[in-house]
Amino acid sequence: MCGIVGAIADGDAIPFLMKGLSRLEYRGYDSAGVALLSEGTIERRRAKGDLSALRELLRRNPPRGAIGIGHTRWATHGAPSEKNAHPHIVGETAIVHNGIIENGGALKNALREKGAIFTSQTDSEVIAHLFHAFLADGLAAEDAFAKTLESLEGAFAIAALTCSAPNSLFAAARRSPLVIGRGGAGVYVASDALALAAEAESLIHLEDGERARLTREGFSILNAEGRAVKRVPKKMALQSEEASKGGRRFFMEKEIYETPEAAARALAVPIGEEDGFSAARMRDARQIFFLGCGSAFYAGLAASCWMEKLAGVSARAEIASEFRHRGAALSKRDLAVFVSQSGETADTLSALRHCEREGVPTLALVNVVESTMARLADWTLSIGAGPEIGVASTKTLICQMILLARLALSVAKPAEAKEAREDLSSLPRKLQEALALSEALRAMAKDYLAPSDYVLYLGRGAGYAVALEGALKCKEIAYIPSDGAPAGEMKHGPIALIQEKTPVVVVAPYDRLFPKMLSNMEEIAARGGYLCLLTDAEGAAASKDLTRASVALPAAGEIGAPILHALAAQMLAYHCAVALKHNPDRPRNLAKSVTVE
Ligand code: F6R
Repeated sequence: MCGIVGAIADGDAIPFLMKGLSRLEYRGYDSAGVALLSEGTIERRRAKGDLSALRELLRRNPPRGAIGIGHTRWATHGAPSEKNAHPHIVGETAIVHNGIIENGGALKNALREKGAIFTSQTDSEVIAHLFHAFLADGLAAEDAFAKTLESLEGAFAIAALTCSAPNSLFAAARRSPLVIGRGGAGVYVASDALALAAEAESLIHLEDGERARLTREGFSILNAEGRAVKRVPKKMALQSEEASKGGRRFFMEKEIYETPEAAARALAVPIGEEDGFSAARMRDARQIFFLGCGSAFYAGLAASCWMEKLAGVSARAEIASEFRHRGAALSKRDLAVFVSQSGETADTLSALRHCEREGVPTLALVNVVESTMARLADWTLSIGAGPEIGVASTKTLICQMILLARLALSVAKPAEAKEAREDLSSLPRKLQEALALSEALRAMAKDYLAPSDYVLYLGRGAGYAVALEGALKCKEIAYIPSDGAPAGEMKHGPIALIQEKTPVVVVAPYDRLFPKMLSNMEEIAARGGYLCLLTDAEGAAASKDLTRASVALPAAGEIGAPILHALAAQMLAYHCAVALKHNPDRPRNLAKSVTVE
């Protein structure tokens, strides 16, 4: 989603702004721009499209200045265009903005009545108009910025410049991430710490409602009431190489190959009493809700199967964007577990706030430990996957599943737990073995899925969550229409889509449900569908007369098998995208962190 960078640099700010913006590219964007403040004027360059268009503008006509702001925009209000791209300038002010100004329409009308002329269709432009208007009323820059913030409703992060304070950069965050960094060559602000990976040595995250003024000497932070905030900066934990592809063609490929290592970290994450969360919370819960969006929801779906099967605790997975609106019957004896890579997904955050209002205890499983979700939840567990830049979640989904499985195991019945623990602990090795099957998955993708205009994915139990994951990935990065369905449901509708050569990816480890999957496979083969089977050696042998292609993953148990199959489903989609010449790191219209509802 949109990205913000800002700098007060020792020299020219442009190199940092462009490096920062390129590190934010992974979030998804459709236009970009920068504004520089120098010698009492603001100069701006904006371009529709990717950063190469902006780079070309800068090469032809470089603005100069040590103080600057930059932005990658992901359109919400108004189409992607140069006019709608940020920064927005009004008079002597320039701003960049992430999020949505909920009272943008009303503010626009009020400003228009006073003579303001808007040049974009964005809600963001009102911020520059307000800042300008308060300065025109004679307020000092800092007060004008504070008054601007007071007028805004919604969740947002803002960075702003004004010629009235030529040595300062202003920043504010309300329910949207913004981090201030300090390094040897400047003071910085960004919506994602990754943008500062090479420059900042220390970081401070702005809390909800805080604003900051940055100068060459450092920065000061005020809370919403205008009181000074003192917080100890944290050491920058990211290395700049973590934002590089490490010799792979795509971030998605690199991150898929990092899965075994990430899984080993997820297995070692302490789940304990130290932060006050105890297994008893789950054991005694009337109901556990697993909430998330997209792939994170699928991790919750698998977890609900494990929690009920292994621990006998009533559990259900919920799509976070639906939860708040559907009027779920909640109790203080429930436990709500929020699953999110970014910890910033607006729908998941809204569901969390809803649970808080209803008095339901909340646990967050996040990859970004400094995220809003981590700060809001009663307890937080880090999934330990490491930075993920590819838009589609890969190693993070696997780590979410592992950590959720560990939660289920911490309350499992002893008889069930022993075998499942061994199953889990062998995962890093088996995930490594699964990666070695890349060539077979590539062939399956190239021969059957990529040439097709539709793919059906089928699975049962936690394997149904894998089928959903496979179908989502196939849609989002390979643009092949796909559905994931519970295998038993096929005959209630989806079977109508199966014709000669329709590829059907069946997620079927050789387990107690395999005979049922075999019946489904017969039904597909009888209609000429091409069966592409993800299974293990026994499953492959038992179905060899039916399948067109099968990939035999390492044999595993109730928990390990769906996790291995999820990795295979991700690799399959990756190979489809590459075969069809799509960039899997930049799926169209999508953003890494979806910070609007
Ligand atoms: C799919 C994908 C998305 C995310 C979803 C939630 O490949 O990546 O469906 O899983 O947007 O994002 P987080 O986990 O950041 O809350």
